[in-house]
Order: sequence, then structure tokens, then C-alpha cells
Amino acid sequence: MRIIRTIAEMRAAVREARRADRSIGLVPTMGAFHEGHLSLMRQARAASDLVVVSLFVNPTQFGQNEDLSSYPRDEARDAALAADEGVDILFAPDAAEIYPDGFATSIHVSGITDVLCGAQRGPHHFDGVATVVTKLFGIVAPDAAYFGQKDAQQIAVVRRVVADLNLDVRIEACPIVREADGLAMSSRNVYLSAQAREQATALNRALDAAAAVRESGERDGERMLDAARSVLAEADITPEYLELRDASTLNTVTRVDSDALLAVAARVGAARLIDNHILKGQL
Ligand code: PAF
Repeated sequence: MRIIRTIAEMRAAVREARRADRSIGLVPTMGAFHEGHLSLMRQARAASDLVVVSLFVNPTQFGQNEDLSSYPRDEARDAALAADEGVDILFAPDAAEIYPDGFATSIHVSGITDVLCGAQRGPHHFDGVATVVTKLFGIVAPDAAYFGQKDAQQIAVVRRVVADLNLDVRIEACPIVREADGLAMSSRNVYLSAQAREQATALNRALDAAAAVRESGERDGERMLDAARSVLAEADITPEYLELRDASTLNTVTRVDSDALLAVAARVGAARLIDNHILKGQL
């Protein structure tokens, strides 16, 4: 596996792959790899000739009071894990390579970024995500890019950018990978104390409780939300949000007549965690 740090070198590798008619799969990441990231790499590996994983802790998507400085970083460990998955290139630029002096462009997706994590974290978050992902698409020119379904709003935002800017890349949403007790894997789980780690399992249990209500034949969203709220309350978790929304428009859904996104975010101990389930329109 090659580690590439400059855009010029990355572009040369892309040109060489294109000359050989090789397809390119990109897995954009901020490192601190866990099974969720590795599952994205495996899906990219199975579908592409050249697999590029980007490792860049993107400063523009963090707010002033967020965890940019403490975000877990261990490039040597990440590189070893990526190499084990058969990744061809780890693209690990520094911040000045991506945001050189004079950098002045930002991509803002309106509407769908005003709710859920966009409302909680502020507009800079998805502006930062949309801008860096668009830059990565411009640098790596992938046929397909792989994102985890855990960040469901991020996927909706990236799909919107791709559609609106006519970018020639297929967006693959990959299933959430969970620990044995159901906690969604996240690089931020390392912030959890043993007690908070136990408490955090209530997020998935709450989503499961809502899904069970849907599976009993109920379509009224409030009933599903109530079931989830009681599990969170029992675990002493006050969610930042717990909402039922259309997975692509992110409009509020009150009846589950077609597939709907049930999304939750909460601070548990020292971590801000998110999770979601798709509640089925058709049983
Ligand atoms: O999901 C992430 O890790 C980041 O938001 C991404 C897509 C790599 C952009 O920095």
C-alpha cells in the first residue's frame, strides 16, 4: 500500500489507473479505524480495481467547542489496518495541502442541513463536509465513494451535492456495523467510560423498541417515538434529537407509509453519539 501526501502525486496515480482502464473506489475517512471503516474498505475492494482511502481529520467540519484537537489519531495503526484490507493507496494529506493560504470556497447545501446534526452542530459542519468531500472527489475522481449509513444525514447531503453539481460518482451507503451489544461503532466510542459505554447501548435499544412498534403493524410515528423515548429515559439519556424523517429529503414524517429514517443523537458521558434505523414502509 502506498501512502500519498500530495494532491499532485494522488492525481498522477489516478491518471495511471485511468490509462489502464481501472475503476477507482474511494473511502473518505478521518481515521481512527474500526470495523465500520474496514467494512467500507471491503466493499470498495470487492467493487473497484484501485481502492483509495483518504485519511484527513477535516478541521472545517468541527465547531470551536468540538473535539478537533482530541479527535483520536494513529496513522501507523490505521495504515496497517488499511493495508490488511488490501487498500492500494492511503491518501493522507496535511491541512495546508487541502486548505492552502487563500482558500476561499465553501459548499453550502441548504434545507437538509438545517435539521438534525446541522441544527445541533451549526452550518459550518455540513459546509465543511460538503466542501472536503467535493474536493476529494475532484482529486481522486472515483467511480464510487463509500459512506457509512450511521451518518445518514451526511449521506443525504453528499447525494444532494453530487446531484446538484453533476458530479460523476456513485454514492454507496453501507450498513451500520455494531458491537455485539448493539452499540454502533464510532471513532468517538473511545471517549466513553465503562459506565457511559453501558449507558450508550440504550441508543440502539431505543431504536429497536421503535422498530418493534412498527413491526407490530403501527404506522403512527408518535407511537414509535414514544417507545424510543421511554428506553432513553430509563437509561437517563436526554437526546439532542430523536426524530422520524424521510431519508432523502429529511422532511418530518408523522406516518410510516414508506421507509423512514429514525435518527437519534445524544451526549453520553464525554461523547456525542449518533445512531439510526430505517423503519420499513412495507413489512
Ligand atoms: O464521515 C467522516 O469521517 C467525515 O465526515 C468525512 C466524510 C471523511 C469528511 O471529512
